Amino acid sequence: MAISNFQKIDEARKEADLLNNEARTADQFMAGITQVLNKHMLKYNWVGFYMLEPGANPPMLVLGHFQGAMTPHTRIPLHQGICGAAASSGKTVVVDDVRKDPRYLACSLETKSEIVVPVFVRGKVVGELDIDSHFLAAFASEDCELIEYCAELVGQRLQKEQKEGSS
Ligand code: SME
Repeated sequence: MAISNFQKIDEARKEADLLNNEARTADQFMAGITQVLNKHMLKYNWVGFYMLEPGANPPMLVLGHFQGAMTPHTRIPLHQGICGAAASSGKTVVVDDVRKDPRYLACSLETKSEIVVPVFVRGKVVGELDIDSHFLAAFASEDCELIEYCAELVGQRLQKEQKEGSS
């Protein structure tokens, strides 16, 4: 019997928790999260982080750890793309059909839907988790919950590291 999306989401969440216990740094955790989501969730074909470049003016999102094909978009200003929209609004953006969204910056011809979830540290956006799918409308509400959970864990790790660095 095929494993349901809910079962896969449950497994991915457990793996994320395990990784959170095992990863020694926020950076290691972020690298691992891209692998967990790409491996467990079969429709998550490109999984990566864009992080706000510290001190950049104008603000710039810079490609971080990712799984999937190399993208031409390694640096994205906040007024561009689905990525820019999520980072500037501080809200999760789900696009069921990227061909119908004029904001979309093409990364692969195969991409059909996309989700971008902001990562917060002390209430401020510091980056985002971006996932592309080769399937239309791949991100249901339970997927959003999983991806937002992972982005929240990343924010907590980054915040903890900043606190340790300043103490
Ligand atoms: N599609 C994104 C650009 C990043 S790639 O998908 C990896 C956007 O519209 O912002």
